[in-house]
Amino acid sequence: MNNNNSKPPSTSDQFNKVYRSPIASWAWRDIRIPKELNELVETNNPKTSLEFGCGIGGFSTYMAEQGIKATGVDFSSVAIEEAKKRVANSEHKPTFLVGDVTNLEMFNDQFDVSFDIGCFHCLNEEDQQKYVSEVYRLLNPGGSHLIWALDNAPSDIKLNPDFIAKTFENGFQLVNSKVSRRRIIASHWYWIVREK
Ligand SMILES: C[S@@+](CC[C@H](N)C(=O)[O-])C[C@H]1O[C@@H](n2cnc3c(N)ncnc32)[C@H](O)[C@@H]1O
Repeated sequence: MNNNNSKPPSTSDQFNKVYRSPIASWAWRDIRIPKELNELVETNNPKTSLEFGCGIGGFSTYMAEQGIKATGVDFSSVAIEEAKKRVANSEHKPTFLVGDVTNLEMFNDQFDVSFDIGCFHCLNEEDQQKYVSEVYRLLNPGGSHLIWALDNAPSDIKLNPDFIAKTFENGFQLVNSKVSRRRIIASHWYWIVREK
């Protein structure tokens, strides 16, 4: 998923461009719901959820279909527009908002669970720290945050359980991690719990 400079997209403009291209329709139109997301619901029985980097919104739509008050945020206005269109006639509509996961000042309320399937690995280290602060601020005490991330992040940072545990060391605990072959690329699932 490269832009013209053959670097992975990192800015909202670059992601907008990708979402306008047919390649995104193919690559990020993953409507299969990972069983890990299903488990997040079954284990936590959340009433509210917040998705970081929701893209065209398939996963938050799944959450809404489970009766959860689901919110998805992404800094690509093109993706959010499409996410809204896809649920326009649906009975269970998530709230989709344009926003940067490093500064989600539009939210004040806390959520029961949050999750991120492919966004964290787009961030540089400075933005990762801002992201961690926002997860802390917006997740209920004791709430779970689920991440799926590539090991060789597009941001060029190598992600692994030690790195994630360190990045979330203040206010969280990495309670589990699992090697994943989602999208047939080396990656992990990370289960992170906010302290009470
Ligand atoms: C690989 S895509 C995954 C999209 C979706 N989660 C999925 O799996 O279909 C990464 C998403 O993260 C979003 N993203 C990256 N950095 C972001 C940021 N700082 N704030 C908000 N969204 C961001 C991108 O716009 C993109 O939609």
